[in-house]
Amino acid sequence: GDPRLEAISEAIRVIPHFPKQGIMFQDITTLLLNHKVFKHTVDIFVDRYKNMDISVVAGIEARGFMFGPSIALAIGAKFVPLRKPGKLPGEVIYEAYELEYGEDCLEMHIGAVQQGEKAVVIDDLVATGGTLSAAIKLLERMGAEVVECACVIGLPEVKGQSRLDGKPLYILVEPREIENCC
Ligand code: PRP
Ligand code: MG
Repeated sequence: GDPRLEAISEAIRVIPHFPKQGIMFQDITTLLLNHKVFKHTVDIFVDRYKNMDISVVAGIEARGFMFGPSIALAIGAKFVPLRKPGKLPGEVIYEAYELEYGEDCLEMHIGAVQQGEKAVVIDDLVATGGTLSAAIKLLERMGAEVVECACVIGLPEVKGQSRLDGKPLYILVEPREIENCC
């Protein structure tokens, strides 16, 4: 295997019971603190997408913003922020998606992408896939072609993939677990 992937996995900090009991929070801020590993992470996505005629990197607020712009700059694409409700000042379209309890929503500026542009969606982690699926819908409603969704962390057989409308999902590492944890 690629030794960079092991380094990426090891640079992710697991915080048990955050934000609530039973959740093993996958904290990518420790990966961002490590220049070498942060660069490996961006490089892997850049190598994958650089020759695919992709002109849009869409990043999902908030943690997709930590990887998306670096990838966009390196492959010569624009960066399109997909934001939580009420943050984008211009005219937007929105898509609601289910959470474990209740729902949330993502918004995109009208005019951010043109019909026929090829896009990738970037986020830190996929769990249920609800967030990525809302992102795909926003881009497709504006006529973009979503080539792939990419996350740093995801389960090997992501349940979310069935919610992604057949779009390929590219994942670097599985969630980390802690041995002997409560
Ligand atoms: C987390 C994570 C993904 C999403 C994955 O974001 O960063 O965006 O949940 O969950 P899903 O696959 O079940 O939809 P969160 O909404 O907690 O907020 P943040 O990125 O702003 O911290
Ligand atoms: Mg998020």
